[in-house]
Amino acid sequence: MRILGIESSCDETAAAIVSEGRVLSSLVATQHDVHARFGGVVPELASRRHMENIVPLILTALEEADLTLDDLDGIAVTYAPGLLGSLLVGLSAAKAIAYARNLPIIGVNHLEGHLHAAELEYGAIPSPYVGLVVSGGHTSLYLVHGFGNLKLLGATRDDAAGEAFDKVAKLLELGYPGGPAIDRASLTGNPKAFRFTKPRFSSDDSLDFSFSGIKTACLLIHRGAVAKGDVSEQFTADLAASFQEAVASILVDRTLDAVRRHGARACVLAGGVAANRRLRELLKQRADDAGVPCFIPPMALCTDNAAMIAYVGARHLEAGRRSDYTLNAVANQEIGI
Ligand code: KG4
Ligand code: ZN
Repeated sequence: MRILGIESSCDETAAAIVSEGRVLSSLVATQHDVHARFGGVVPELASRRHMENIVPLILTALEEADLTLDDLDGIAVTYAPGLLGSLLVGLSAAKAIAYARNLPIIGVNHLEGHLHAAELEYGAIPSPYVGLVVSGGHTSLYLVHGFGNLKLLGATRDDAAGEAFDKVAKLLELGYPGGPAIDRASLTGNPKAFRFTKPRFSSDDSLDFSFSGIKTACLLIHRGAVAKGDVSEQFTADLAASFQEAVASILVDRTLDAVRRHGARACVLAGGVAANRRLRELLKQRADDAGVPCFIPPMALCTDNAAMIAYVGARHLEAGRRSDYTLNAVANQEIGI
């Protein structure tokens, strides 16, 4: 099955062709240049840029795969969650092509895309496995028994991990997007320079997350340093590295805790924050120590892309599921609940 995947849920326009679990082409047009001077995504500008990018991107994805629209067997498109105006651009393009070529269309949840992205690299993952999706909008832990058979074990109670990265980067004037900027600044920083208390919940067995406390602690440390005139390049690198270490350690603790509690056979890392150097390293190291197989996709499959959408769409289409032309954009939609 040759499936065209279309992704436009936030600030990346993406198109990809996937056939039998193999990526034939995968293109991503980032909009960082558009949003950088605002320090975050401006929804209206995102939709406009998606409109400019979507058709050339689809045509190039076909060209790179050496295919034409006539060779496609179906179209998969992200319909939730995300910015409504952005999602609608991808959805409209997908519906137009599907209608014109009489192709089946399937709506894919973006989180389900992230969660299964690792399979494009590693093939089937031993189940049940624990999957951590860490992105700009989500921090969710799932127990996955198989495709379409999963349970949400925990989620953030306030900021998503990526959102915390973006906000701390803004505070430290490291630029946008914040995650990669903190990752870079941390290279010269001391991760033990500042210590943060780990969040605790009233129920001890919760697998939820919270990052707003650490974010506020960074704000207070920074404010104190500004008052004393102590803000230097080294201070910024130290705070970035300490923040990154704290977040990575919380994410890894919870993931391995979930593996133990549910007797999972493996763990999988997914989402934009999964591109973080320290998080990848720490999860690999701690999972190896615990004897838990750990699957961490290459960077390009962690951040937003359309290959994961095409792959998940293909699995749904193969199982006989179809969307129709009433398929609409949905801003918020968790999976596994
Ligand atoms: O999955 P994604 O590309 O888009 C959403 O679905 O939200 O994730 C974007 C998030 C942003 O918050 C970005 O700062 C973060 O992923 N991110 C990183 C890194 N690369 C991207 N966070 C930490 N370290 C990175 N290297
Ligand atoms: Zn994403």
